[in-house]
Amino acid sequence: MKIGLIGLGKMGFNLALNMRDNNHTVIAYNRSSAKTKRAEKQGIIGAYSIQELIKKLNPPRSVWLMISAGPAVDEVIATLSPLLDKGDLIIDGGNSHYRDTIKRYRKLKEISLDFCDIGTSGGISGARGGVCMMIGAEPKV
Ligand SMILES: NC(=O)c1ccc[n+]([C@@H]2O[C@H](COP(=O)([O-])OP(=O)(O)OC[C@H]3O[C@@H](n4cnc5c(N)ncnc54)[C@H](OP(=O)(O)O)[C@@H]3O)[C@@H](O)[C@H]2O)c1
Repeated sequence: MKIGLIGLGKMGFNLALNMRDNNHTVIAYNRSSAKTKRAEKQGIIGAYSIQELIKKLNPPRSVWLMISAGPAVDEVIATLSPLLDKGDLIIDGGNSHYRDTIKRYRKLKEISLDFCDIGTSGGISGARGGVCMMIGAEPKV
């Protein structure tokens, strides 16, 4: 599948390589562009803004956030969500507090966006070679 990834830090970069190796097309954006350039050298399609990332995806879009837990997730969702269409999916792969996750789910549901939290375990080597994913979402998602 084609998937958008925001965040190419330790986890995001390795997840991108893992997805690439499993024949998914990864389009990735990182706040600081040097990490996007590094990913492009590894066969990841780079985007240099969240707007560009969204343009490179086809609906229904799936956008995976792999960024620092906390306010950063709300900031990115605030930029991202107006660019998405009904039925698009935002995935939070970071270690967000579950109460924040529930609030985000409810807020996004009001604007008909799907939301899924995928807490990831296994650290960097797991992200690269075989991550453990704890998925929370509505069954249809
Ligand atoms: N490291 C692990 O072993 C591990 C294991 C399981 C889960 N996790 C979870 O996975 C998530 C990512 O962890 P990590 O280790 O990959 O972190 P990291 O290497 O510190 O990378 C953090 C990423 O978040 C981005 N970011 C931070 N604040 C941002 C903001 N306000 N707007 C946009 N982007 C922002 C950073 O962009 P810049 O490059 O521009 O700073 C970077 O891409 C966290 O929730 C962490 O708890 C980590």
